Amino acid sequence: MLNIVLFGPPGSGKGTQAQGIIKKYHLLHLSTGDMLRAEIAAQTKLGLEAKTLMDKGELVPDAVVIGMIENKLDNNKSVAGFVFDGFPRTVKQAEALDALLEKHKAPIKVVLSLKVGEEELTKRILHRGATSGRADDQNETIVKNRVVEYRTKTEPLANYYAAQGKLKDITGEKPVEEVYASLCHEIDKVNTGSTHTH
Ligand code: AP5
Repeated sequence: MLNIVLFGPPGSGKGTQAQGIIKKYHLLHLSTGDMLRAEIAAQTKLGLEAKTLMDKGELVPDAVVIGMIENKLDNNKSVAGFVFDGFPRTVKQAEALDALLEKHKAPIKVVLSLKVGEEELTKRILHRGATSGRADDQNETIVKNRVVEYRTKTEPLANYYAAQGKLKDITGEKPVEEVYASLCHEIDKVNTGSTHTH
C-alpha cells in the first residue's frame, strides 16, 4: 500500500495537491477537514460540536478525528493506498495512525511537508475566504489562530516523522504545477510496490 501524509500549515496547498496525487497514483483522499465539514452540512451532533471549535480556528478533540479515520480505513481495505490531508495534527493522532496502519501491515511511506511563509498563507486563505463560505477563512484573527494551533500542536510532529526517516521538506511557495512535480518526485522514490501510475 502507498500511504502518504500531506503535512503543512493551513493554506499550504495540501488539499490542492491531494487532487493530483490521488489521480496519478489511484489513492483515496482522506481529509479530516472535509469530513468534518460534511458532518456540519449534515447537521449531525458531531458536526455541530466541531463547528464551534472550527469556526474559531481551534483543533477538534483527537478522539473525534481518530474515530473518523478508523472508520475510513476499516471500510476501504482494498484500495491502493491513502493520502492523509490535515491528519494527523497532534502527536497523539500520529501515534494512533501508526497503530491503525500496523493492523493493516501498511505503514506510512512518506510524509511530505509543504513549506510556505506566514504572509503567503494568510494571503491565500483570505483570498479564498471571499468565495469559500468557510467561516474560518473570513478574517485575519481566525487565520492567525489556525497558524498558532499549527505551530504549537502540529509542527512538533515533524520531529516525530523525521525520527522515523520519513519526513521530506517541499517548497510550497511556487506555482501549483511545480510543487506537484516536486511531490511526485519524492513519491516515486518510495513507490517501489505494484501501484500502477500513468
Ligand atoms: P482543514 O480543512 O484541514 O484546513 P487547514 O489545514 O487549515 O487547511 P486548508 O484547507 O485551509 O489548507 P490546505 O493546506 O489544504 O491548502 P489548500 O490546498 O486548501 O481543517 C479545518 C479545521 O478542521 C481545523 O482548523 C480544525 O478545527 C479541524 N480539523 C481538521 N482536521 C483536524 C485534525 N486532524 N485534528 C483536529 N482538528 C482538525 O489551498 C489554500 C488556498 O491556496 C486555495 O485557495 C488554493 O487554491 C491556494 N493555493 C494552493 N496552492 C497554491 C500555490 N502553489 N500557489 C498559490 N495558491 C495556492
